[in-house]
Amino acid sequence: FIPTESVQEIVRKNPEVVPERYVRYEDEEGGDDLLPHLFLEIPVIDLFLLSSGDEEELKKLDMASKEWGFFQIINHDIPTEVLQEMKLTAREFFQLPLEDKMKYFKASNDVQGYGPSPIVYEQQKLDWADILILQVYPTHSRQEKYWPTILPDSTKFIEAYSKEASRVAEKLLAGFSQLLGMQIEELLKMHCEVLQAMRMNYYPTCPTPEKVIGVSPHADTGTLTLLLQEDDTIDGLQVHHLGEWVSIKPLPNALIINIGDVIEVLSNGRYKSVEHRAMTNERKERISIATFICPSEHVEIEPLASIVYEDLKQKYKKFRYGDYLNYYWTRRLDEKTPTNLGL
Ligand code: SIN
Ligand code: FE2
Repeated sequence: FIPTESVQEIVRKNPEVVPERYVRYEDEEGGDDLLPHLFLEIPVIDLFLLSSGDEEELKKLDMASKEWGFFQIINHDIPTEVLQEMKLTAREFFQLPLEDKMKYFKASNDVQGYGPSPIVYEQQKLDWADILILQVYPTHSRQEKYWPTILPDSTKFIEAYSKEASRVAEKLLAGFSQLLGMQIEELLKMHCEVLQAMRMNYYPTCPTPEKVIGVSPHADTGTLTLLLQEDDTIDGLQVHHLGEWVSIKPLPNALIINIGDVIEVLSNGRYKSVEHRAMTNERKERISIATFICPSEHVEIEPLASIVYEDLKQKYKKFRYGDYLNYYWTRRLDEKTPTNLGL
């Protein structure tokens, strides 16, 4: 069963009705705990200070990664027009008529392309979102047919933003290298060739936002995720923190960063790849652009020997990153990662 329906179309045709397949009930997976929640500030890190070797900022990165798995970065130095043009590209793509977007519809055996959130088993509830996934780097991994060239400048804009995102990611990786007791370039080198993908999310408005989920709870598999929101005034991202779902208020012009499973495993669980989800609202659609930074598929990931030595216990098995991805895409949503890889 592969749904081909765009949620955006469902809402356009009938804004008042939420089809059963999207409605979450309290006694089901992911269906409890959808109601109002806390708003808390997540840590804010100044990327300029961090990359100039500021000790305080490095400590903040350590604390944020232990306690939250999420933080925002300011002073990232991405030119405002690059951010604006990326946001515009995402908006213009989702505003295209359905028949134009369908030219980029994901083939069933592809991860890249346009479509609804992937589903892996028949009864799975559907997410209230449409997405476009593109592999950006290395360039030879691109599937050009999914790039929305119907929008003349989109390739240029996606490339300009992605280049900035990889520059920001490299600075963060240098910070994590220091925290993990490695040479400053070592974490980046360990990736071999960095795989960088982009996921543009479109969350239509929903007449009953307390009964649907935009993106079901999950943790990210990669090393780092950088999130850009089109409109800083619309919240939607929620992070699981101390047993509660906490809404993240985006700071103007900041990027939200989260740690993926790769850093959790390398750090032997000191740093957390935290579960998160996206919720929708009744008033305004929401667009977000996630950039995933991951190692090459052949790279083997395991807890760093120096940390295992200090912890006296290796908490995760070694795995090949590509095998882990395959497992992730076919797992049931209620199977938690990466604890399945624990010893
Ligand atoms: C995601 O984590 O997959 C989406 C987050 C968001 O749209 O805020
Ligand atoms: Fe995510």
